[in-house]
Amino acid sequence: MHSIGNSLALLLGLALLAMIVAMPEAETPQLFGDIHIPSDMESLSLTRERQQHLCQREVPVVFFQTQKNSPHRGNGSTIFYHRIEVCCLGYRRDPYSHRCVPDCSQSSPDNCFNGFCRAPGRCECFAEFVRNAHGACIHTCPISCQGGRCYLNGTCACHPGYVLDRETRLYCRPHCAQACGSHEECVAPGLCDCSPGYRRTDELGCQPICTPDCGYGKCVAPNQCECFPGFIKRPQRNVCEAECHINCENGFCESRYKCQCREGYRYDLNTTSCLPECVDDCGHGNGVCIAPGVCRCFEGHEGRGNGCHPKCDGSCGPHGLCLLPNICGCLPSQQHCLNGSCDANGHCSCPKGQTHFIDRCLKPTQLIQQLVTNERRLHFNQQLGYEFSALIGRYFNLS
Ligand SMILES: *[C@@H]1O[C@H](CO)[C@@H](O)[C@H](O)[C@H]1NC(C)=O
Ligand SMILES: *[C@@H]1O[C@H](CO)[C@@H](O)[C@H](O)[C@H]1NC(C)=O
Ligand SMILES: *[C@@H]1O[C@H](CO)[C@@H](O)[C@H](O)[C@H]1NC(C)=O
Ligand SMILES: *[C@@H]1O[C@H](CO)[C@@H](O)[C@H](O)[C@H]1NC(C)=O
Repeated sequence: MHSIGNSLALLLGLALLAMIVAMPEAETPQLFGDIHIPSDMESLSLTRERQQHLCQREVPVVFFQTQKNSPHRGNGSTIFYHRIEVCCLGYRRDPYSHRCVPDCSQSSPDNCFNGFCRAPGRCECFAEFVRNAHGACIHTCPISCQGGRCYLNGTCACHPGYVLDRETRLYCRPHCAQACGSHEECVAPGLCDCSPGYRRTDELGCQPICTPDCGYGKCVAPNQCECFPGFIKRPQRNVCEAECHINCENGFCESRYKCQCREGYRYDLNTTSCLPECVDDCGHGNGVCIAPGVCRCFEGHEGRGNGCHPKCDGSCGPHGLCLLPNICGCLPSQQHCLNGSCDANGHCSCPKGQTHFIDRCLKPTQLIQQLVTNERRLHFNQQLGYEFSALIGRYFNLS
């Protein structure tokens, strides 16, 4: 026990040193579990270690799209999914080492701050710390003790209304004179409330919470579902559903072919899963909905209000409107007007010495250059079509 304590202290010292070197202007150094201390010996095995606890996962390909009108083709089980590597369940990506390290966030409110997360959900406190009732590692005397104060001789004296934790005798718990109800605990002197993971209900007192909800099952303990007869849990999923062959992520199968989506999600035929839903499809397809109500805008677009809108670097002026990335349109015709400004009649007016050519303002000398490549000729052909419907077409009632 002693030698473990000593080596821990040494490790801590090293870790602090490493962090101070890495972050010269660091705030108070903080001790997280499993600090990575690279050494020469380690670099060889590093690559191998990085592969550990990696799992494959399929993610809808729409989440990868960054440009409008260029959907990705997935490399997963269907073209609508990408197969990527992620940390397996119970592990998380360490932001410094990029390795997958055990995750203690489910069992420890501060993810094993002041301790080592040895395995998923197994937090071991550093020496001089103790696990409190909620799984957090807290200081012990002589530094401090929760709910009390330290005597010089190293014992913890509880504040009035608190009693020493019976098991560890290293911190104080609030005391409630009468016993708390089921799934309740004493949260302050004389005050009972639901234990973590439980919620108060009007009729049944404190009831466990399961997120996502259990579907065709009953929540019997925090995040533990018991399925109704005839319903099953698929591997890696904690929701009870009918047997089915559709993915139905973010939902649960009602029957063999019917997927019931969670609130904020909508069924998508391509992925056979529920995808998050955003107002107006993020501005009529100018972005990707990555979580319910959260858009990630495509390149050249920006988020405004509920959706994504094309972004023009310059101002389009009082008579113009940003129609496409860096392309203003003049109101009301929506005639395109690159490098010009829109006049009150909705026409593109060019700076002195330039002429309006299809969709832009050009110096006479630039005119010839514009048509040299095929790509450009194609562009102008398309633009002519657009200008025809924007301006001329409306006289013939075509648009
Ligand atoms: C599939 O594509 C994704 C996204 O481009 C990439 O990260 C991943 O490595 C690819 N997976 C395979 C198995 O090729
Ligand atoms: C520590 O000091 C307090 C206050 O003087 C005393 O009540 C307590 O018995 C002492 N504990 C030990 C283990 O000596
Ligand atoms: C399904 O995929 C097709 C082909 O990629 C695409 O055209 C269509 O918009 C997709 N449907 C939905 C609802 O995303
Ligand atoms: C005209 O527009 C193009 C494309 O937006 C830009 O690269 C260029 O700098 C502009 N020229 C002038 C004179 O504003």
